[in-house]
Amino acid sequence: MSSQLHSLKPFNTFNLDASAEQVVVVETVAELTAVWQNSQHQQQPVLLLGEGSNILFLEDFQGTVIVNHLKGIRVEESESAWHLHVGAGENWHMLVQYSLKNGFSGLENLAMIPGCVGSAPIQNIGAYGVELKNVCEYVDVLDLASGETQRLSAEQCQFGYRDSIFKHQYQAGYAIVAVGLLLKKQWLPVMTYGDLIKLDPATVSPQQIFDSVCQMRSSKLPDPKVTGNAGSFFKNPVVDAEMAQSLRENYPDAPLYPQADGKVKLAAGWLIERCDLKGFSVGGAAVHRQQALVLINQNQATGSDIVALAHEVRQRVGSKFNVWLEPEVRFIGARGEKDAVGVIA
Ligand code: FAD
Ligand code: EPU
Repeated sequence: MSSQLHSLKPFNTFNLDASAEQVVVVETVAELTAVWQNSQHQQQPVLLLGEGSNILFLEDFQGTVIVNHLKGIRVEESESAWHLHVGAGENWHMLVQYSLKNGFSGLENLAMIPGCVGSAPIQNIGAYGVELKNVCEYVDVLDLASGETQRLSAEQCQFGYRDSIFKHQYQAGYAIVAVGLLLKKQWLPVMTYGDLIKLDPATVSPQQIFDSVCQMRSSKLPDPKVTGNAGSFFKNPVVDAEMAQSLRENYPDAPLYPQADGKVKLAAGWLIERCDLKGFSVGGAAVHRQQALVLINQNQATGSDIVALAHEVRQRVGSKFNVWLEPEVRFIGARGEKDAVGVIA
C-alpha cells in the first residue's frame, strides 16, 4: 500500500481539501472488482465515487477511493422507444446533450445535474418535474464480493423522493455498473415547474425545455467550478397534511407541494430563507444568497465548518417551524459513510 496521501480536492464538488490513502480510477468491471476485493483483504475502507457532487468529506479518508470511469453508450430502437444502455461512469449532463442531439427526448428537464449516470438511480435524481424513475428501465448492479452482476427493473429499484434501494439493501458491497433508460418516441413535454409553465405547449420543443432549465439553474445554483457546493444540502421535508395546513395558516406564501399519498412536500429553501439565513456563514461555509438550500464553500471551508453551519440551519428552522431538516448530501468519515442527521443534530 502506498503511504503517500492523495488529495481529494479534484474529486468533490465542495472542493474540500481532504485526502485519501489511495485513489484508483477504474475503467472496467474487472478492475473495479479487483480493487474492491484487494481492499477488503487488507481490511481497508473503500469508497466508491462518481464525480463527488453529492458528498461531504468530514475528514481525511483512511482508505481507497475508487473513481468510476465505466464508459459506453449503446442505443437500441423498438417500435415505440429508444433504449439506452449507459456505462455508470458516463457524465449525466453529457448524456442529456447526446440524447437531445440524436433526437431522443425525455431527459431535457434533467439537464445540468452534475455527476455520473451510475449515481443517478441512487437518490433518484430529479428536477423541474421529472425524476430518473420516469425514464429508467433497469439498473445493472454488481455484487462486489462475488463479482456477479444482476439487473434490477425500475420497479425493483423502489424509487422514491431522493431515495431508492441503493440507499438500503443494495448499498454496502454493491456498485452500479450500468443504467438502462427508456425514452418514448411519443414525446410528452413536462412543463409544470418554474418558467417551464410559460412555454407554449403547442410549439414547445425538447431543446426549448433544455434551454429554459439550463437558464433557471444557472441563475440560482452556484457553479461548483467557481464556488464549491453539492447542490441542495437538505432534502425538502415531507410532512402530513395537518402540519402543512397550519404552516399555510401562519404563512400564506409558503410553497406547498401535495404528494400522491396525501402528504405535502415543503420547500426547505423557503424555510431557511424565512429564518433570515441567506448569506449566514460559519468559518468558510455559508448559506448561498441566491438559493438558501445550497450551502457553499465560500472561503476555504473545512468539513467541520459545513457541519457547524448545517447544524445551525437545522436548529433555527426546527425551532421556528418544528420541521427538522435532513441532509440530502452523503457524509463521509475517515472509514466510511456516517449518519448525516446524527452528525448535525
Ligand atoms: P457521488 O457524489 O460521487 O456519490 C454519491 C453517493 O453514491 C456516494 O455515497 C457514493 O459512494 C455512491 N456511489 C457513487 N457511484 C456509485 C456507484 N457506481 N455504485 C454505487 N454507489 C455509488 N441532484 C438532484 O437530484 N437534482 C438536482 O437538480 C441536483 N442539482 C445539483 C446541482 C449542483 C450544483 C450539485 C453540485 C449537485 C446537484 N445534485 C442534484 C446532486 C448530485 O448531482 C446528484 O446526487 C448526482 O447524482 C451525484 O452524482 P455523483 O456521480 O457526483 O455521485
Ligand atoms: N425558495 C425560497 N428561497 C430560497 C430557495 C427557494 O423561497 O432561497 C422557494 C422558491 O421560491 C420556490 C420553492 O422554494 O417557491 C422551491 O425552490 P426551487 O424551485 O429552487 O427548488 P428546491 O425545492 O429548492 C428542488 C430540488 C433541486 C432541483 C429543484 C428544481 C430538492 C432537495 N432539491 O430544489 O435539486 O434542482 O427542486 O426541480 O429536492 C439537488 O437535489 O441537489 C437539487 C438541486
